[in-house]
Amino acid sequence: MTTRPRTPAPGTPAPGKLALTELVELKARRQPIAMVTAYDAPSGRLADAAGADVILVGDSAAMTVLGHDSTVPATMDEMIVLTRAVNRGARRPLVVADMPFGSFQVSDEEALHNAIRFVKESGADAVKLEGAGPMLPRVRALVGAGIPVMGHIGLTPQSATMLGGFKAQGRTAQKAVRLYEDALALEEAGCFAIVLEAVPAPVAARITAALAVPTIGIGAGVECDGQVLVWHDLLGLYEGNSPRFVKQYADLSTEIKRAVGAYVDEVRERRFPEEQHTYSMPDDELALFEEALGSDRKVGAVDQTP
Ligand code: KIV
Repeated sequence: MTTRPRTPAPGTPAPGKLALTELVELKARRQPIAMVTAYDAPSGRLADAAGADVILVGDSAAMTVLGHDSTVPATMDEMIVLTRAVNRGARRPLVVADMPFGSFQVSDEEALHNAIRFVKESGADAVKLEGAGPMLPRVRALVGAGIPVMGHIGLTPQSATMLGGFKAQGRTAQKAVRLYEDALALEEAGCFAIVLEAVPAPVAARITAALAVPTIGIGAGVECDGQVLVWHDLLGLYEGNSPRFVKQYADLSTEIKRAVGAYVDEVRERRFPEEQHTYSMPDDELALFEEALGSDRKVGAVDQTP
């Protein structure tokens, strides 16, 4: 069994953890940042082993693991459980907890209270929140309290209804300028990185060039400083419709159905478990056991009484 380093005090980077400041250096070196979502300890461990720099415990969990139709129902308590689990699996990547809908919109105080819960109760390194404009004071409040904040603009799923559905944003000059200004304002408010979701590639490229902090794109083109994909989308685990910006790198649904189906068949045909999956006992102990039960009840005998 491997021993893990003790969990450091909240707000203190764990040994081996990527420094938050390294992200700006990666941008400066034009070295792309790889971010992926994860929702439990195994996916945190695998994302770490695969070399991801940042893990986002996205509120996409509401859809990918909790079975909802949108991200809106995700709660703080659910997100804290998932983030804590990811943290148990991941060592090097920065773990960013996504602030769920309703956890930061009401007031700076409530946003701060919930962000502090993420840091203290789940060991999150940073939080992400959607939006700009009215959310800028939230960013300032959190950063002022020492909690790193990742911004998220463009298609912001928590407000998809207001945006007219799950569709690309900033596709007119006027809306693109608005996105550009929002990105600058988020940087000014103190965000250490900004997710650009479903934004035309040339707009994302201009925003990326204008910012000192990294942009992380999802459906925003290759010029962003980093990319993020949802775990279930990239592994082919999500059975709903995926947006066009998703690239599927594996088809694990098919593989899981094949494996579980084979198991079900083998159980039904008594082909599993085999000898190597079974424990034996010394012959003399078995004989004593049978003797203790009496001659009318043999081990393995099937009761035929109707
Ligand atoms: O919740 C999430 O997974 C996200 C990413 C798509 C950026 O916000």
